[in-house]
Amino acid sequence: MTPDPLLQCRGLRKCFITRGREVCVLGSVDLAVRAGEVVVIRGRSGAGKSTLLGLLGGLERPTSGSVLLGSERLEALSASALASLRRRRIGIIFQSHNLLPSWTARENVEAALMHAGVPAGARRARAAGLLKALGLEDRLGYLPAELSVGQQQRVAIARALVNEPSVILADEPTGDVDPETAAEIVSLLTAPVHERGVALVVATHGAFPLDGADRVCHLEGGRLIGGDGLDR
Ligand SMILES: Nc1ncnc2c1ncn2[C@@H]1O[C@H](COP(=O)(O)OP(=O)(O)O)[C@@H](O)[C@H]1O
Ligand SMILES: [Mg+2]
Repeated sequence: MTPDPLLQCRGLRKCFITRGREVCVLGSVDLAVRAGEVVVIRGRSGAGKSTLLGLLGGLERPTSGSVLLGSERLEALSASALASLRRRRIGIIFQSHNLLPSWTARENVEAALMHAGVPAGARRARAAGLLKALGLEDRLGYLPAELSVGQQQRVAIARALVNEPSVILADEPTGDVDPETAAEIVSLLTAPVHERGVALVVATHGAFPLDGADRVCHLEGGRLIGGDGLDR
C-alpha cells in the first residue's frame, strides 16, 4: 500500500493583481509528495515554480485551493501558527539564498533555531557541526559576501536542514554553480531523503541533475503535469 502523501495541494490557484490587471500564474495545481520522495518541478522561467514553492511552504496564501502538510491545512492556520509550523517542519532554500548579509555563515544557520527553543550554546554547536559536515569548517565566521556562490548555497542548505524538517523545498538549488558543485548539492539535498524520509521538492528551469528524482513534473500554462503521479 502506498503511504499517504506528506505534502499535497489540490486545485491550487494563485493570481496577482498587477497594474490593475489580474494575472493568474497558477490555474489549478494538484501535487502529492510522499515521505522519502524526491519530486522535481520543471518549467520555463516565469512558469510559476517559485510561486508554487512559496505556496507549498506557507510563505504565500493561495487565491483558492488547498495545501496540506500531513493533516494540517495551511490556509486554515493563522499567520503565527503558520510561521511556527514552517519553522518546525519545512526547510526552504530560496532561489536567491536570502542569507542575512551582516551575519556570518554560522549565525545564518543558527537563526533557523532561534525560535525553536534551543539554548544558545546548543544552537551554536549544531550550526557549526552541520556546516562542518557540509565542508565549510574553515568558513564559519565568514559573511555571505566573502563566500563563493556554491559556499553560500551550502550555508542556505545548512540553514534549511538544521531543524530536521520533514519537507525540504529547494528553488533552483543548482542554478548558478558548476556541474561538480551541482552534484555535491544534489547529494546534500537527497541525503536526508534517504536517511530520514524527508520529502524533497526541487524547482528548476532545467539545470538540476535529474537522476535522483522519483518523479519529474512539468509546470506549464498554470498547470502541473505529473504532479500526483497519475496524469502523465
Ligand atoms: N508578487 C507578485 N506580484 C505580481 N506578479 C508576480 C509576483 N510574484 C510572481 N509574479 C509573476 O508570476 C509569474 C511566475 O513567477 P515565478 O513564480 O517567479 O516563476 P518561475 O519561478 O517559474 O520563474 C511571473 O510572471 C511573475 O511576474
Ligand atoms: Mg523561480
